[in-house]
Amino acid sequence: MRVGLLTSGGDCQALNPTMRGVVLTLKNLAKKVEIIGFANGYKGLIYNHYSIVSPSAFVNILNQGGTILGTSREPFKHITEPDENGVDKVKAMVENYKKLDLDCLVVLGGNGSIKTANLLSEKGLNVIALPKTIDNDIYGTDITFGFDSAISVGTNVIDNIRTTAQSHKRTFIVELMGHKVGWLGLYSAIAGGADIVLIPEKPFSIKKIADVINNNKKGYTIIVASEGAMTKEMTKMPKKDRKKVLSKNNNSIATYIASELEKLGIVEVRTTIAGHTQRGGEPTPYDRILSTRLGAKGAELIISKNYGNLVVFKDNEISYIPLSETAGKLKAIDDNSPIIKECENLGISFCD
Ligand code: F6P
Repeated sequence: MRVGLLTSGGDCQALNPTMRGVVLTLKNLAKKVEIIGFANGYKGLIYNHYSIVSPSAFVNILNQGGTILGTSREPFKHITEPDENGVDKVKAMVENYKKLDLDCLVVLGGNGSIKTANLLSEKGLNVIALPKTIDNDIYGTDITFGFDSAISVGTNVIDNIRTTAQSHKRTFIVELMGHKVGWLGLYSAIAGGADIVLIPEKPFSIKKIADVINNNKKGYTIIVASEGAMTKEMTKMPKKDRKKVLSKNNNSIATYIASELEKLGIVEVRTTIAGHTQRGGEPTPYDRILSTRLGAKGAELIISKNYGNLVVFKDNEISYIPLSETAGKLKAIDDNSPIIKECENLGISFCD
């Protein structure tokens, strides 16, 4: 059996353990298995950059962040358009898959990569996808691999900020990733005991932030801002105007909030942007378990020829859903979700 593997989109801590889960399980379930590792995501499949990777290469990568195959964001945004040399990317992928005589292609990726996986599946290729992202925004799975490790980094940043915030009696804004959704910000804010959390799903008011700070009896305030969070006014602006506002503030919502707070007389506000540190380092034990199990399930689906699916973790069980059911959909935090009320009851303000 010949199985192609690729890791696509922004990396995260648990890509390697996921691939390990796939390969070790395949090795045990199939009579003979050959792994074709595509370099740097879909680019490897388009331009035929691959190597035959010995299963032994996957054995000792359980706690290793990053991806041994390399990854890239490109080119799935413009996947259906020809490249600069006129190469039809989708056609090239289908041809290379066939030339290599693959039984299945395994894609580890987020929303964009899953969309492409679905496209390839519709073209008749056997594809299995595994839900990767620190953002936890893939529709159909309760949790993605990479999310827990990123929360752990986010929490650590908040913990470290707390002592200096306490000593100086200052307001700190910790900006966390999460793209268009607030999962990473919200979970890290709960784990780190933040006073305020700002998420894209709940547009906020600067005035309300100022009120919380001014009434905070602790004398210091910790704000967690998801990178995609917006003020109510921003949501009404055309996208290009919003971009302009942010570009004047280092492309950072935290920087923007700090400058607006200063205008309201709240001084010495400090910002910390966790950035790509949230995708670095080792996977947490939870992520190692989750990713290993998701990978193992992916291998089972290959053995049973149950292609065209995304492996998911739903209602405490590893299962799978058709790629067509999840492709192109985003899982945001529902405003009516109990977690929102729980946070408010705990005294964590959304300032909305
Ligand atoms: O999708 C994962 C993610 O880390 C987002 O949270 C973030 O917005 C984006 O990737 C950053 O992308 P890049 O690595 O291309 O800067």
